[in-house]
Amino acid sequence: SEVIYKDSVDSTQKLAFGKITDIKEPFIVVAGEQTEGRGRFNREWASPEKRGLYMSAVFKPDIYLNEIIKFNLFISLAIANAIEKSFNLDAGIKWPNDIYINGRKVCGFLTEVISENNMIQSIICGIGLNLYHTEDISKLETATSIEDELKLDDKKDLDMESFLKQLIIDLEKQYDQFINMPFSSIREEWISKSIIFGKEMRISEMNRTFMAKPVDITDEGFLLAVDRYGETHKIISADIEF
Ligand code: BTN
Repeated sequence: SEVIYKDSVDSTQKLAFGKITDIKEPFIVVAGEQTEGRGRFNREWASPEKRGLYMSAVFKPDIYLNEIIKFNLFISLAIANAIEKSFNLDAGIKWPNDIYINGRKVCGFLTEVISENNMIQSIICGIGLNLYHTEDISKLETATSIEDELKLDDKKDLDMESFLKQLIIDLEKQYDQFINMPFSSIREEWISKSIIFGKEMRISEMNRTFMAKPVDITDEGFLLAVDRYGETHKIISADIEF
C-alpha cells in the first residue's frame, strides 16, 4: 500500500475525501495529530499529537453499496487481530464500529462511502486508536489506551510504527478475504472476538431505541437480538450501548 504521513492535518478522512479522484487503492494516510478529528455521528475525536494512531485507508472495490455491512465486519476483525498480535492484549469487537479492551473503548473506526447507482466507488475507512494515556482518557470511564492496558514489562512493545505495519498486514488480509469470500468464512472467528453476545444492550436504530440481547449474527452479517418478550429482532445497522 501507499502510505502517506502528515505531521498535522484537520482530519485524515477529509484529506482522503479531498484527493479521492487521484487516489489509487490501496491508499493510507496517517497523521501525527488532527485538529478536527471526527468520529461517528460527527462527534469530536480527540487527536492530540503522537498520542494515538489516526489514519484513513481508501479502497475502491467493485461492489454493491449494501456490501458495506460485510466490509465493516472484516475490518473490525483486522483491527482486533492486529492489536492482539502487536500487544498481546485481548481485543474485543463491539459491533458495529468499536474495539474494546477490558470493557473500555480503545479504538473506533468509521466507514464512509462514495457511491453511484448503488455501486461503491470508494470506501474511506478512518481508524482512531488510543495508543498512549491522555488526560481525556482519565476523565472517561468508558475509554482506555493501549498504554493503560499494557503491563509494565510489555510497555516496550508500544511502538506506533510496528503497530502500523501489523495493522496494514491485517487490513490487507481481511480486505482480500472480504473481496473473495463470504462473511461465513470468518463468522466463527468474528463471533469468538465479539463482546456483545448474551448481554442486555440498548439498541438504537434510525427510528427507534429498544433493549435486547444480541444472540447471533447471520451469514449475511445481520445481528439477531432477543427482547424480553422473546421477540427476535434482525438488526442491519444501529448503535448499541451496554
Ligand atoms: C468512532 O468511534 O466514532 C470512530 C472514530 C474514528 C476516528 C478516526 S481518526 C482518523 C480518521 N480521521 C477522522 O477525522 N476520524 C477518523
